[in-house]
Amino acid sequence: MEAIKFTEGKLILLDQTKLPIDVSFVECNDFMCVAQAIKEMKVRGAPAIGVAAAYGLVLAAYEYKNLPQKEFLTKIREAATVLKETRPTAVNLFWALNRMLKVLEKEDILVKDIIEKLEIEAQKIHEEDLAMNKKIGELGQELIPHDAGILTHCNAGALATAGFGTALGVIRAAYQQGKVKMVYVDETRPLLQGARLTAYELLADGIPVTLISDNMAAYLMQQGKINCVIVGADRIAANGDTANKIGTYGVAVLAHYHNIPFYVAAPTSTLDLSLKTGKEIPIEERNPLEVKKIGDVWIAPKEVNVYNPAFDVTPHQLISAIITDQGIIKPDYSINLKRMVSNEL
Ligand code: MRU
Repeated sequence: MEAIKFTEGKLILLDQTKLPIDVSFVECNDFMCVAQAIKEMKVRGAPAIGVAAAYGLVLAAYEYKNLPQKEFLTKIREAATVLKETRPTAVNLFWALNRMLKVLEKEDILVKDIIEKLEIEAQKIHEEDLAMNKKIGELGQELIPHDAGILTHCNAGALATAGFGTALGVIRAAYQQGKVKMVYVDETRPLLQGARLTAYELLADGIPVTLISDNMAAYLMQQGKINCVIVGADRIAANGDTANKIGTYGVAVLAHYHNIPFYVAAPTSTLDLSLKTGKEIPIEERNPLEVKKIGDVWIAPKEVNVYNPAFDVTPHQLISAIITDQGIIKPDYSINLKRMVSNEL
């Protein structure tokens, strides 16, 4: 399942707002189209929006290729700012674009050389993400017990990444080892990424999946059906506090109460060690209509007041381990994440 493809100078995005009913694609020829697709969540998931934005900057480079070098550079930097303003929480977006902008610092005189280097960098970001997910899967599956009932929230799968997935990468790898009895998927209101995307991905791979609505998780835990929880992440602060899809924090509290391990799976591009704690992570607030409507159908009074934060922050105390491509990180996160980044683990 491929959410992002760059081919013949165009970015092809699987339109995730239409899944699972329609499998259709958005074709972007310019960077504004990519910015719009990220904003509207046609492409979504922290690593995927980073990859898409990197290609968005390549498209901007094509658009401005006939300008003199200095003006070209100004336009590319402006395009990066537009892309950065699409969604605030997932740090992968900023990480990928800052990597792309670094290419501009390499004193190339010819615009065509800069464009070539931007293409190469975007492709590297894309390929590296897939490799990191495979590694996360390989390392993380060690934590999964035999005959496991696993709960996941939102979609941290192939659709949210360059492929394979983070949380679903661990589940895929554990399934290959014959360890997975059942994956329980929270539907994940308001945009239903669990119901629409995770259920779709797991079914396509033949992995046993049971969909539940968000308010059922506690009951399943009480019944002993859940052996561990695995979720993805949008940004991880230096102390291990983790922003992920709204509702993740509640699931972590439930897991803690029931003594069930709660794992976060994320590539190192999701770490933001410049932030001491999760309190500093910007939380996106989205359109109230996402809560009041499902598709075109109103499910609440049109005039009712709505609060629609798209993410919450799970305090590090509730996280049993963070599974990264560089290793499984256990508490004390403030010490161990820093050590991992400086390659001391
Ligand atoms: O609003 P979304 O759908 O972009 O949110 C996605 C999530 O919260 C994912 O769990 C997270 O980005 C990790 S994806 C590997």
